[in-house]
Amino acid sequence: MIGGVEPERSDGAKRAGPIRILGIETSCDETAAAVVENGRTILSNVIASQVELHARYGGVFPEVASRAHIEAIVPTITRAMNEAHVGWSDLDAIAVTRGPGLAGSLLVGVNAAKGLALGRGLPLIGINHLEAHIYSLWLVEGAPEVRFPVLCLIVSGGHTELILMTDHGQYRRLGGTVDDAAGEAFDKVARLLRLGYPGGPAIEQAAQWGNPKAFHFTRARVEGDFNFSFSGLKTAVLREVQRYGPADTGSAERAPTRPSELPVADLAASFQAAVVEALVEKTAAAAEAYQATEIFLAGGVSANKALRAAMSQRAGRPVRYPPLILCTDNAAMVAACGTFRFQAGQRDGWDLDVVANLKLAA
Ligand code: KG4
Ligand code: ZN
Repeated sequence: MIGGVEPERSDGAKRAGPIRILGIETSCDETAAAVVENGRTILSNVIASQVELHARYGGVFPEVASRAHIEAIVPTITRAMNEAHVGWSDLDAIAVTRGPGLAGSLLVGVNAAKGLALGRGLPLIGINHLEAHIYSLWLVEGAPEVRFPVLCLIVSGGHTELILMTDHGQYRRLGGTVDDAAGEAFDKVARLLRLGYPGGPAIEQAAQWGNPKAFHFTRARVEGDFNFSFSGLKTAVLREVQRYGPADTGSAERAPTRPSELPVADLAASFQAAVVEALVEKTAAAAEAYQATEIFLAGGVSANKALRAAMSQRAGRPVRYPPLILCTDNAAMVAACGTFRFQAGQRDGWDLDVVANLKLAA
């Protein structure tokens, strides 16, 4: 008996058959739960998005996010179990994101996972969200075996990290952003162009109609061969926007005027081209320098078609990226990562804590 609760199974019990892990993800603005078999097959993948809640703020509002996670966590996990057609005794462990992310949001997932693991007698495995993004590549159907080392570019709303993966669980950080994350830049520029939130898909869509060469945004010079900087780019777009006059907020009497005058599509296309070029150049150079067999793209920005196309063209080696549903935050990637961690023997205690700025590698 632990804490007055009778576990259904003892922690060390080995169930015959495939390894099934329940993954839980609440690091930012998606409440997600998923069941994955053998680290590769998705039995269920449920995502309750808070995008509409945060859209009015133009970004994630942490306090609102934690409260929404509290409301959504139980129904999301229940749905993931039902859709996977599994019971608690079919699971081998519960894997949960412990960082990096918003502390208040992470706590909801970690506490839910602890409660369930304790109540059901299952091992608890704390997961690094960045490592989970990498493991989304193991969920690609029919993908060939991975031969290490691979170079991973993790590009999301919170991160832009260039990581050399030399084996399961073995990482070396080659570089990353020195200021804004790539996705953050997409979100901020979308706001400047009044394209709404989240900015990445909105910019990508607007860019379809624009000329990527209409504006030449000078590429940021940044120390370190494999580092990135995007805040100057955002300021350069702001300057262009300001040339078209102050924003018209659009009152009830008067329709907004500026958006129709502002060359939104050209600005979006030129901005996107600049971000893509920076990401592709440094990633390709790092892949070459470290003789990576392949390049893995992961994270929300890896949904961007211009990035995928440019990387595949320039890389000189195979480029893998996840299907769209696995680019942005989800729990299937947490469960996939949890499977490899489970096999490596990781078991966490009830003192597992959230770490808002958790790193993947030094
Ligand atoms: O991985 P993710 O869901 O959350 C974090 O861990 O941050 O990434 C969300 C980010 C947002 O900044 C969003 O604007 C960006 O990914 N994003 C995109 C696209 N789809 C999502 N950026 C560029 N192009 C896209 N198609
Ligand atoms: Zn993420």
